Amino acid sequence: MNHNVLITGGAGFIGSHVVRLFVTNYPEYHIYNLDILSYAGNLDNLTDLKNNENYTFIKGDICDNELIKNIFKKYKISRVIHLAAESHVDRSITDPLSFATTNVMGTLNLLQVAKESWQANYINKLFYHISTDEVYGSLGHDGLFSENSKYDPHSPYAASKASSDHFVRAFADTYGMPTVISNCSNNYGSYQFPEKLIPLFINNIVNNKPLPVYGKGENVRDWLFVNDHARAIDVIFHDGKLGDTYNIGGFNEWKNIDLIKVMIKTVDRLLGREEGTSDKLITYVTDRAGHDFRYAIDSTKLKDDLGWEPSLQFEEGIEKTVTWYLENTVWLKQVTSGKYQEYYQKMYN
Ligand code: NAD
Ligand code: TYD
Repeated sequence: MNHNVLITGGAGFIGSHVVRLFVTNYPEYHIYNLDILSYAGNLDNLTDLKNNENYTFIKGDICDNELIKNIFKKYKISRVIHLAAESHVDRSITDPLSFATTNVMGTLNLLQVAKESWQANYINKLFYHISTDEVYGSLGHDGLFSENSKYDPHSPYAASKASSDHFVRAFADTYGMPTVISNCSNNYGSYQFPEKLIPLFINNIVNNKPLPVYGKGENVRDWLFVNDHARAIDVIFHDGKLGDTYNIGGFNEWKNIDLIKVMIKTVDRLLGREEGTSDKLITYVTDRAGHDFRYAIDSTKLKDDLGWEPSLQFEEGIEKTVTWYLENTVWLKQVTSGKYQEYYQKMYN
């Protein structure tokens, strides 16, 4: 089966891994990567693919109705994997409107154009929406999010993703659009922009900068290696049941402060520093507003129905990730120049 697949947000962190996996593993598909190249999107994440014949990059905005119509028409798009989004909770607290524009209106625009272009001929078509576990809100010390957990978003980011999920389901229910949604836990790995916890802290440890731990560092996240997320997306894209939702998680919960200590230990060891050298960088700062206490995903359905499981142990994943950031200093320098410094000053000083 040939597909013309539109992947949105393919120059971002997760998107670049998904694009690479699809371009490499499915030479019979043509992959169109649409990305606006915001601060988080970077073509340096994909330099290895630029000569692949089954890959085309398009710079543009998912909110641009004319552009999306033209892409669907010109390239006969039959399937969509939609990752483009504003993705950082802290930014959503200072600028919620841009999250509504991109995550809600952008998703709605894609759905509407897909509906108009496919004209109810849904054979072999698919709209696959990539979402987050944050739509389910916050857990206490016990329990896990399942596909049936109620939506209870707290941050503007989570609210915008929840809204986009609802629109995707509305298009399935109202127009019969073939859709699937997956909600994943926190990802980590190569090419993640250093505003999220893991790459930010690795970069700060390397540069002997304070590590701003929100609150008491007791919040819990469930971490999944990004390549395992990309593998799950592959499986769901090909075998997911239309209209269904799949939760993706690592069964890998860490209290922030414990995870930070692992990062410190790993970076110090790989840099040949004495153990404990960077412990002094830990700095407790004012808590994030509305900070969700705990996320944890039950991904049993994905395992039972489609046979997916995380492939990496966390210790191996974090070692690979730290090693990647230590080896890719040019990439890191580029993404942390200019505007990043302004963001950092505003956010942490
Ligand atoms: P990211 O911020 O690294 O990348 C987002 C990409 O979208 C960037 O390349 C950016 O340029 C692009 N983009 C933003 N606005 C756009 C627009 N208007 N038009 C076209 N492109 C636009 O994000 P990520 O961490 O790779 O997340 C990707 C998706 O996965 C998001 O939908 C996010 O909600 C979801 N998700 C992320 C995580 C995580 O831990 N990072 C976990 C679960 C789900
Ligand atoms: P983050 O990587 O922003 O992901 P999310 O908020 O989507 O889960 O943050 C992960 C956890 O780390 C979260 O509990 C907030 C915390 N955190 C800090 O303590 N300090 C920081 O500077 C950042 C960015 C996050």
